[in-house]
Amino acid sequence: MKSALIYGTCTGKTEVIADKILAAFDGVLDIEKVDVGDISPEDITNWDFLICGIPTWDVGQLEYCWQDIYDEMDSLDCAGLKVAMFGLGDQFSYEDTYQDAMGLLYKKFMEREAQGGIGFMPVEGHGHSASEAQFGEEFCGLAIDDDNQDELTDERIEAWVAKVKEALGL
Ligand SMILES: Cc1cc2nc3c(=O)[nH]c(=O)nc-3n(C[C@H](O)[C@H](O)[C@H](O)COP(=O)(O)O)c2cc1C
Repeated sequence: MKSALIYGTCTGKTEVIADKILAAFDGVLDIEKVDVGDISPEDITNWDFLICGIPTWDVGQLEYCWQDIYDEMDSLDCAGLKVAMFGLGDQFSYEDTYQDAMGLLYKKFMEREAQGGIGFMPVEGHGHSASEAQFGEEFCGLAIDDDNQDELTDERIEAWVAKVKEALGL
């Protein structure tokens, strides 16, 4: 399974989480680390499995290099591509747009017929009021709030990686 972790970041935090996730998959799955600023939209279909990492910026907006890809995704056929998501956000300063970027990007992948549902995590423990990334009582991926809950980051990553490995049969 040809795999990549594609991340975008403005101030570096998403890359730190990306490295922790890659370390957790080490020896289990070979995952290429890719800065979203270095690829074109059509490159996305080069892989069989993608982990997409995205922080929310402005008010409920995608990180800017991911936004450039997102804007061009409508012509992509993502059938057969498996995607798992992680997002970074700030639930106290942006309680009603918490993790929106992760949700918006996930929904775009679903529109393009990628296979989702991998690594959904409970919203319990997050204090937001609204999120595009919330589906019922779950987020559509790993929600990290390093601004307010950094003490929970490592355990959240560990639980999510275990779930993703199980979903992939690893
Ligand atoms: C100006 C600004 C706007 C932000 N807007 C949101 C937002 O709407 N929703 C959210 O969940 N987090 C928001 N955040 C929090 C960032 O997503 C968070 O700090 C994240 O860790 C940044 O990741 P990065 O360093 O990889 O860019 C915002 C942060 C800043 C400074």
